[in-house]
Amino acid sequence: MKFVLASQNAHKLAEISVVLADFGDEVVSAHDIGIDLDVEETGTTFEENSRIKAQAILDLCGMPTIADDSGLMVDALDGAPGVYSHRFGSKDSDYERCLYLLERMQGIPAENRTARFVSVVTCLFPTGGGIVARWTCEGVILTELRGKNGFGYDPLFFVPEFGKTFAELSAAEKNAISHRGNALRSFREQYREWIGHADK
Ligand code: IMP
Repeated sequence: MKFVLASQNAHKLAEISVVLADFGDEVVSAHDIGIDLDVEETGTTFEENSRIKAQAILDLCGMPTIADDSGLMVDALDGAPGVYSHRFGSKDSDYERCLYLLERMQGIPAENRTARFVSVVTCLFPTGGGIVARWTCEGVILTELRGKNGFGYDPLFFVPEFGKTFAELSAAEKNAISHRGNALRSFREQYREWIGHADK
């Protein structure tokens, strides 16, 4: 199956393409097919924003379209930055957003620094209907940045089972355990079942 990825984020595009390529899917970004649309994320949930992005691109290309909406939810900040992860503190770069998160979490003890990444993957089909998959990945927010890989809040997101931050994992290691990697695998499993039903 050929899918269009509704994302402008080069890091996310790379992660999504690798996982879907493992299933033998052909994937192109909206940009690759001449669509450069910065979709406004007006929803208040990951599900709403994921659907808004997929629908906007599907309306323009008429091909099966996949969007991911994701973010970091920090318990000590009542779930912030959540759907506002990309705009947290109105900062302009990943590095500044990490520093801002550290500032907001100053004085919070280790046992209360729990957090999770959330990814909601929505695939919409031109014939109507779609598939939604949600996954979370649990971790802890460190008090300093560690590691050079990945993007976003990866240098602050420590995964106790691995003893490393997301930014210290290789791309393949991150994909194997991440919210996005697992949401995509869950999507692919649902898609396989959906095809099975469609064939009958
Ligand atoms: P959006 O889904 O494009 O609205 O933005 C998601 C934002 O959440 C990103 O810009 C990052 O700040 C953060 N985020 C989502 N997934 C990850 C990840 O895998 N690692 C680090 N940060 C992430």
